[in-house]
Order: sequence, then C-alpha cells, then structure tokens
Amino acid sequence: MLRLLVCVSGGGTNLQAILDAIDSGAITNAKVEAVISNNANAYALERARNKGIDAFCISPKSYENRELFHQALVEKAKEIHPDLIVLAGFLVAIPSAMIDAFENRIINIHPSLIPSFCGVGFYGLHVHEAVLARGVKVTGATVHFVDKGMDTGPIILQKAVEVKQGDTPKQLQLRVMEEAEWHILPKAIDLIANGRVQVVEGKATII
Ligand code: GAR
Repeated sequence: MLRLLVCVSGGGTNLQAILDAIDSGAITNAKVEAVISNNANAYALERARNKGIDAFCISPKSYENRELFHQALVEKAKEIHPDLIVLAGFLVAIPSAMIDAFENRIINIHPSLIPSFCGVGFYGLHVHEAVLARGVKVTGATVHFVDKGMDTGPIILQKAVEVKQGDTPKQLQLRVMEEAEWHILPKAIDLIANGRVQVVEGKATII
C-alpha cells in the first residue's frame, strides 16, 4: 500500500479527485496518509479533515525566515514518512533538502503542457492568462516527477485540452481541471502505486 502525503495550497479539487478515485477504486494500492498546506485557510485542509485524514498547516508566516519554514516542512514530511509526495496545487518552491530526502518520490500536477507555460511565475491562474495572451489553441496539464529545477522533472502523463475562442482565464482553468488534471493526477498515482512507472536516464516510462 503506497502511503501518500498530499501537499496543497488552495481549494484542493485535485486532492478531492485523488480521494474520489481511491473511493471508486480507480486508484488501487494507495491511501492518503496526511495532507500539508502552507495556507491555514486552504479549503483543501477541510476536505482532508472531513475524510478523517491528518491535515497540517505549515505556514511561512509562522517562521522567522524561509530557511526555518523549509526546515519545518522537510521535518514534517520526514515524520509522516510517505512513500510518495503529491504536490496537488502546492504553490511553494520545494526546498532542495526535500528533493534529496524523497528522490523520484515527489510528483506535481502543472496546468499546462510542459515545456510550454511553466517555470518561474507560472502557477495557478497566471498559466491560463499567459496561454490566452499568447493565443495558443491547445493547452492541457502535465504530471511530472519533481527535481531541483522548476517544472523540469521527468514527465509521467500529459493531456491536451482545447482553448476556446472567448475563454476567460477562469473558464479555461476549469476546463483544464475537468478534462485533464482530475484524470491524469489520479491515473499517475495509480500507475506508481502499481509499480508501473520507471525512470530511466531522466525519462519516465509506463511499463
Ligand atoms: C491546479 O490547477 C494545479 O494544476 C495548479 O494549481 C491549481 C490548484 O487547484 N498548480 C500549479 O499551478 C503548480 N505550478 P486545486 O487546489 O483546486 O487542486
């Protein structure tokens, strides 16, 4: 049984998709052990608590500096001792100590087709604003392993989504979630939980 730590910052619809997929049997061999948010007001924390899952807030506001916040985050993750950390809308740059401690055991959902519209400054609604500003006709979402770069780790799954004329950033964000994110994130977890993802020479393959 793969023990998951899910890290969140906001609404937690991707966390909900994971919980629903576990309930429906779309994800097998995995359970959510704990949830961490950097934001005390994240509705995602409530989604976890409603399910009886341990939910912790580790906010940078509670620490004197970024280093101490990072230390607390890594310590909590080590204490939970998960097999896989899932960044499900966790809008914090992951400290390198966390990547060292959980090499190839952290995955992230990003709301675009990497390598487009990713990297520093591309998160949440900003991604969809940039997509619309550039006028691309297809966008999507990506699940990837997290390495020390920003959105540069091995890609596990991607799904394309049509950009429609007249879309607002919020409309596009919702379509990308509904048609891509809420499917490929649970799918990637199920594949990993069943030993079907291998990383060889920096590339992930499904076996
Ligand atoms: C999702 O769209 C996720 O892809 C994005 O934040 C949103 C969180 O929504 N993540 C990033 O932008 C990471 N760079 P949620 O809290 O409802 O799951």
